[in-house]
Amino acid sequence: MPDRSDLVVEVPAKVNLALCVGPRRADGYHELATLFQAVSLYDEVALSARDDGQIRLAMTGEGSETLACDQTNLAMRAAVLMRERAEAPPGLGADIRIDKHVPMAGGMAGGSADAAAVLVGCNALWGLGLSLDQLAALGAELGSDVSFLVYGGNALGTGRGEKLAPQPAGGQLEWVFATAPRGLSTPLVYRTFDDMAAQGRIRPNVELPDEALRDLCSGEAQRVAPWLRNDLQAAALELYPELATTLEAGRSAGALAAIVSGSGPTCAFLATDAAAADRLAEQLPGLSSEVRDVRRAHGPVPGPQARVDG
Ligand code: C5P
Repeated sequence: MPDRSDLVVEVPAKVNLALCVGPRRADGYHELATLFQAVSLYDEVALSARDDGQIRLAMTGEGSETLACDQTNLAMRAAVLMRERAEAPPGLGADIRIDKHVPMAGGMAGGSADAAAVLVGCNALWGLGLSLDQLAALGAELGSDVSFLVYGGNALGTGRGEKLAPQPAGGQLEWVFATAPRGLSTPLVYRTFDDMAAQGRIRPNVELPDEALRDLCSGEAQRVAPWLRNDLQAAALELYPELATTLEAGRSAGALAAIVSGSGPTCAFLATDAAAADRLAEQLPGLSSEVRDVRRAHGPVPGPQARVDG
């Protein structure tokens, strides 16, 4: 693959400040009401144009050796879909190199972020001129989180997560994320959620009160903390009980709130301010054996940003 890059896209990860999960639908997905926030952990996607019609993908970074770079990869599917739907002239192709920093299989939507970056990147690289809304609609065909990662910021997600209403960004939240030694499969977490619901141990519901949404968007950590909620957390803990130790360690070390991020197993800790978050990030690894790595981040941040490179 040539090392020339025409374009580099930085794409953030996400955390769900509130993730309310309803019952399983006929199509197998679950109805959601969620407040997404894009956070400052980034994958970097470099794209250069090819004129032989080939789309090639390579990945570097943590855990990337476990990922297939073929048609099963969501980033590859994003490029192929983009070319089909935009009726791009034959011969258009791309070399795509993804440098991964977002934890994989961690509940932070790293794979969806890469797909969103490819949509934004190919749109620019090939001069297709699609709007963000059009890119987000394509994203929805690829996965439930891809549309949000086209936009970034804060957004209320409904449907299976793909129907988005952008929300104001009141202020900056300071986060600490603790990754875990092993991953969790999102479909398995949802299946466990269904089993627990069938046993009457949890009650699916998608109510996110208006005042919760207002407080969550305020950007004031003290107002946000009481509303942080993840309905998948009980299922993630059922599959990975040791995460409870990590969550408790963060709380006892001063986090305002601690939740599993998305389908897990990454744990998200909200801190009072940047200094408190830095202190927490230093302490956490010594407090739980299930902490593999600790990342500092803030949110909300904008969605994929493309820059010309090389
Ligand atoms: O849409 P995406 O491919 O990211 O979803 C991965 C899996 O997570 C789905 O196959 C489904 O099992 C589960 N899921 C769900 N309900 C949602 C989103 C995802 O059941 N709203």
